[in-house]
Amino acid sequence: MIIASNFKTNHTRESTAGFVDFINNQDSFCEVRIFPPFTALDTFELRPNIRLGAQNFYPADRGSFTGEIGYEQLEEFDIDSVLIGHSERRHILGESQESLCGKFDFAKEKEMEIIYCIGEPIEVRKAGIDAVMSYLWEQCVGIDIDYEGLIVAYEPVWAIGTGVVASLEEIDAVLKNLKTKIKAPILYGGSVKVDNTEAILSLEHCDGVLVGTASWEQENFAQMIEIADNLTKD
Ligand code: PGA
Repeated sequence: MIIASNFKTNHTRESTAGFVDFINNQDSFCEVRIFPPFTALDTFELRPNIRLGAQNFYPADRGSFTGEIGYEQLEEFDIDSVLIGHSERRHILGESQESLCGKFDFAKEKEMEIIYCIGEPIEVRKAGIDAVMSYLWEQCVGIDIDYEGLIVAYEPVWAIGTGVVASLEEIDAVLKNLKTKIKAPILYGGSVKVDNTEAILSLEHCDGVLVGTASWEQENFAQMIEIADNLTKD
């Protein structure tokens, strides 16, 4: 099972170090990913099940791309896991499917782990499951869904940061559909909290969660990891 925390634009260098240390001191065995802001990246001595990743990158080793972070800057901190296609990058930062495909191909060539995020807006959800699935498959166009370093995160846009979580039936129906073509692990994201983690992780087709808001408190994130470990033990 994979439990991932996306810090987004939260935490400082100092608070990230404390957070990572806290999680690293927990006796865990599920796969844990932490995506801090760039400024807080560092080389930490971590348990083998814990990895830090980058929320974004520019698909070049280095070059003249003012304000961007390239592969060489990530490599310096041993970062080999990246988020691509998060809804905030698609909708707030205006990333196109074409630019996401460029990032995907670059990260794939570098053999990085890629958490590729997809998710539908509310008007598509209201149109029903078929509309949702065709929207999600559109977001996979140009993406090598057979890439072995791939993890997919299904995150309905309307459930991200809103406190509105998709129903368990809605989540599992989508994950089940995605699994007809995608062999990679599939996570759910969107208002995951300590209280709903167990139910979501228990869904037949769910391989983990990608958590924003509720994961920014280290005690909460540690509890989610513990829930995942306990479910795996059963
Ligand atoms: P949220 O964010 O947990 O705050 O809804 C999830 C995400 O954006 O990955």
